[in-house]
Amino acid sequence: MTLHPMAADLMTTIEDANPHVAAMLSARGRAIYFPFGGILGQAAEAKGKRINATIGIALEDDGRPLVLQALQSMIELDGRDAFTYAPSFGKPKLREMWRQMLREKNPSLHDTAMSLPVVTVALTHALSMAGYLFLDPGDDLLCADLFWGNYRLLFEHQHGANIRTFPTFDGDGLDVAALKQAVTEGAPRKRVLLLNFPNNPTGYTPTVAEADAIVETLTAAAEAGNDLVVLIDDAYFGLVYEDGVLGESIFARLADAHPRLLAVKIDGATKEDYVWGFRVGFITYGVKGATPKLFGALEAKTAGAIRGNVSNAPNLSQSLLAKAFQSADYPRQKKEKFATLQARFHEVRRILDDHPEYAERFVRLPFNSGYFMCVRPLKADADAVRKRLLEHYDTGVIATSGLIRVAFSSTPRALLADLFANLYAACGDVEQGD
Ligand SMILES: Cc1ncc(COP(=O)(O)O)c(C=O)c1O
Repeated sequence: MTLHPMAADLMTTIEDANPHVAAMLSARGRAIYFPFGGILGQAAEAKGKRINATIGIALEDDGRPLVLQALQSMIELDGRDAFTYAPSFGKPKLREMWRQMLREKNPSLHDTAMSLPVVTVALTHALSMAGYLFLDPGDDLLCADLFWGNYRLLFEHQHGANIRTFPTFDGDGLDVAALKQAVTEGAPRKRVLLLNFPNNPTGYTPTVAEADAIVETLTAAAEAGNDLVVLIDDAYFGLVYEDGVLGESIFARLADAHPRLLAVKIDGATKEDYVWGFRVGFITYGVKGATPKLFGALEAKTAGAIRGNVSNAPNLSQSLLAKAFQSADYPRQKKEKFATLQARFHEVRRILDDHPEYAERFVRLPFNSGYFMCVRPLKADADAVRKRLLEHYDTGVIATSGLIRVAFSSTPRALLADLFANLYAACGDVEQGD
């Protein structure tokens, strides 16, 4: 396929900076570019002219956005921060802020080079754009076998990839040996791996020792000649409730691990800042030895994919978040909400510890973080238990992969004891064929 000259320029930049990263891109990833010279470029050149008839929004005669008072009256922000388009890359101030916040939330990043985050329409979209850039139809996406179900629609249906799984757990901990097998079997080649901690559905984050083993395994696989794209789904970042568990993103450890390992951090405000419907996420790149030019080219390709897909992410949401992040009370409020979820986590632990009899009917999977925990019914079908809970116990849970997923994030603390008592009873009913 002949590349557009702008795509060819980007590919030259990437090849010169790191040919392994060039080899990681999908065919669409190689071909995409950001159309700096098109309508956007021409509009930028006309900025400040007495007559500027380039802009594709409506303006009042005095230059303010032409908006409906019925909407502006509900919004305290300047109309330019709410109604107009945000850039396809995202609002520059928010991007800078998020990168700074990444360093503060992950102190071990120190001064590791990373790209500026590119803003997406939350994490689903960021994952999809990563699929666009790095997966060709028929490629494998390596992933632990307990994963967020939407990965199927995202990576298999949208991008034609095959999700190839390895066991999540070995006993009470992560099956790092299975991950190693997945990234090293056969001849060295390009591989795309997805890591999600805290995990949906299990609510598990690696211990520090497990994280060390993962970093070591992936670095060794890169050293052995594999070109590794590691997609890091950090949707639940920061919600870690126990000591000894990795509190920082594994991105901080992988961003500077090896020139053949591209760490792609996919995160956002959705769960971290409790704004599920705002639809603001980010893609940030890290690879050892990267130059600003390499990051610039990857950002341009990402923004090009976004431009051709949803054009840009909501300006209003980005502006609200940028303002909230600057609020003096923001850190205190975050701690307060974290404490609410952490208290529920400890309540679930207490309930299970206080009821050893529950283990006769279901076993808990390891959990230490996030929104969820899972149990495996021992002698009953998970979906039958779910239905029984709905019909006889006024209780809703998710059945997935033979497990029951409990969202303690959305269950009042006072109801958690009833929830598990109901689960125990429903498992018993189903076992007896009621
Ligand atoms: C693991 C994981 N990744 C991504 C997402 C999607 O997040 P968003 O709402 O920002 O698209 C979810 C949402 O449930 C999730 O559980």
